[in-house]
Amino acid sequence: MSSINQYESIPNNVDLSTDKRLQRALEKWQPNFLSWWNDMGPEGFQKDQIYLRTAISADTEGWAHFDYVKMPDYRWGIFLTDPEPDRRIGFGDSYGQPVWQQVPGELRSQLKRLIVTQGDTEPASVEQQRLLGNICPSLYDLRNLFQVNVEEGRHLWAMVYLLHSYFGSDGREEAEGLLERRSGNPDKPRILGAFNEPISDWLSFYMFTYFTDRDGKYQLLSLAESSFDPLSRTCKFMLTEEAHHMFVGETGVMRVIQRACDLMKQGDDVRKLGGIDLPLLQRYLNRWYTVSLDLFGGEESSNAALYFGSGMKGRAYEKQYEDHVALDGTYAIPAPGADGVTTRDVPMRNAMNVVLRDAYSEDSQRGVDRWNKCIRENGIDFELKLPSPAFHRAIGLCAHMPFDPSGRLLNQAEFDRRKYEFLPSPEDEAYVASLMHGVYEPGKIANWIAPPTKGIKDKPFEFEYVRREAH
Ligand SMILES: [Fe+2]
Ligand SMILES: [Fe+2]
Repeated sequence: MSSINQYESIPNNVDLSTDKRLQRALEKWQPNFLSWWNDMGPEGFQKDQIYLRTAISADTEGWAHFDYVKMPDYRWGIFLTDPEPDRRIGFGDSYGQPVWQQVPGELRSQLKRLIVTQGDTEPASVEQQRLLGNICPSLYDLRNLFQVNVEEGRHLWAMVYLLHSYFGSDGREEAEGLLERRSGNPDKPRILGAFNEPISDWLSFYMFTYFTDRDGKYQLLSLAESSFDPLSRTCKFMLTEEAHHMFVGETGVMRVIQRACDLMKQGDDVRKLGGIDLPLLQRYLNRWYTVSLDLFGGEESSNAALYFGSGMKGRAYEKQYEDHVALDGTYAIPAPGADGVTTRDVPMRNAMNVVLRDAYSEDSQRGVDRWNKCIRENGIDFELKLPSPAFHRAIGLCAHMPFDPSGRLLNQAEFDRRKYEFLPSPEDEAYVASLMHGVYEPGKIANWIAPPTKGIKDKPFEFEYVRREAH
C-alpha cells in the first residue's frame, strides 16, 4: 500500500512531494482548473454544503470519505492503484514482456491522443450538466449530480497527471487545452460527439449516466489493460468511482419507470397525470444508446488494430480471452445489406472496436432487463429494447442510413416521416422540459419520478443531502 498524502495541496498517492518539478507544474495548473470549475461547473450551488464522497486512497477497503463540503473546496486528488509486481504485457505483439513505466518513443503521439481523448470527456460532461441543479427532482438527486460532477473533475486530474508526468511540454499544453475546449461550442467543441450534445433535463441525465458513462467504463477497462503501466493503474482506480455514476443512471431510469407504472394504475394517460410515458422513455433510450455506440468508433478500424497490436489498448477483461495476440481469426461486424443489417467478417484486430462495443451492449442489456422486470412486476405490458447498432448512427458503416430501430432499412422518405416514432420529438422534449422544476425540500420529490428505495451511505431519502445557504 503506497502512502497517501491527503494533507498536501494536491492529495495523492504518487509521492508528488518528491518530484518538485511535477508538483510545481500541477500547482500551476490547479488555479486554472478551479477557475474553469467556477465558470463551467454546476451553476448556482458553489456556496452550498454538499454531502459528498471524496477519494482519499486507492485502498479497496475504505477508499472514500463522506462529509459535507462546498464544491470549490473539494479535494481533487491523484490516485493510482498499487503497482502489480512484475506485471507483464497482456496482449498484442509484445505479449508477455514487462510493461512500460515510460512512454515508448514511437508510440508517444498515439498514447497522448488516447489520454487526451479520454481526458476531454471528463470536463465535457460537467459542462453538459451544469444547469441541471436548477431543475433537480430532489435533494438526493441533486447530491448525486454533484457527486458525479466532482468525480469527473477528479478524472480530469487523473489524465492531466499523466500528461504532465510523461509527456513534457506538449503534455502541459494539452492539459491547458482540456480546460479551453467547451461542450457544444462550435468554435472549440469537445473532441467526441456525444459530449457536445446538450443534457438539459433529468431524463437525459439518467440516460447519459447509464449509457454514456458506461462507454466510459468500457474505455477505462480497455485502458486498464494497457502496457503503459501508469495509465493502467490510473484507469483501474477511476473505474471504482465510475460504478456510482452508472448506478445513478440505472436507478434514475428505474424510478421514472416505477412512477410511470404507478400513474398508469391511476389512469391511462400518464402525461395527463404528469408522468413520463414509457414510449417516450424508449425514444430517449434510442437516442442515448446510439450516440454512445458512436463513441466506440468505426466498426472496421486500422487504428484499433494498431492500438491492440502495439499494446496500448486491450479488450475489456483481456484475461478472459484465450488468444491474446489475435492475429488469426475474424470477427463478425454489423454492416449494411440490401434491405437490412447483415454481418461481415473482418480480421480480429481490425474489429476490436466492435469487440469492445459488443461487450458494452451486453452490459447495457442487463439494466434494460431489470427495467423490464420492474414493468412486468407492475402488471404492465410493455418492453423496452436496445435498438439495432445500425440505427441512428453518425459513425461507422451504417452512418446516416435510414435504418429503423429493428435494423430494417427504410427509404429516406419513410424514415423522415416516421423519425419521431423512433427518436424524441420536439414535443417530447418540450413536455419533459415542462416537468422539470427544482425541488429542494428534504424528503420531497417531483411528481414524475419515484423516490429511491434507499439513500446514500445508509442515510434515509429524507436526509439533507445538500445544505443550501440562504438565497
Ligand atoms: Fe469519468
Ligand atoms: Fe463518469
